[in-house]
Amino acid sequence: MCFRYTIPVFLILLGLFGCATVLYVPTEADAQSQSVSLDTLIAGRELYMNRCGSCHNLYLPTQYSKQEWTQILDKMQKPAKIDTTQKELIKKYINLSLN
Ligand code: HEC
Repeated sequence: MCFRYTIPVFLILLGLFGCATVLYVPTEADAQSQSVSLDTLIAGRELYMNRCGSCHNLYLPTQYSKQEWTQILDKMQKPAKIDTTQKELIKKYINLSLN
C-alpha cells in the first residue's frame, strides 16, 4: 500500500525534470575539439535556453541540419532580441550536436 504513489510521483518528477536534462551539456573535451573555452559553450547553451524557448518549445539541435540552423538563427535573431555575438554563441552550442 505504501508504494501506491511511487509510480505517479515518479512520472511527475520525470515531467518536471525530463525536459530540462535533454539539452546536451558541453564538456571540456567539446571545448578543446572546437578550440573555444568551455564558458563559451555553456554561455551558448544558457542563451539558447533563456532566449529561444519563450514563444515555442525548444527545438533539439538534432532536429535540423547545420545549414538549416544558420537560416533559422538568422530568422529568429530579431524575435529573440539577441545580437550577432549572442547568435554565434548559440550556433556554436547547437553545432556541438551536429556534424
Ligand atoms: C518572439 C517569439 C520567438 C522567439 C523569442 C523565438 N522564436 Fe523561434 N519561432 C517563432 C515563431 C512565431 C515561429 C514559427 C513561424 C515562423 O516560421 O516564422 C518560430 C519557429 C522556429 C523554428 C521552427 C523552424 C522554422 O523555421 O519555422 C525554430 C527551429 C525556431 N523557431 C528556433 C528559435 C531559436 C533558435 C530562437 C532563439 C534564438 C527562437 N526560435 C526564438 C517565434 C519565436
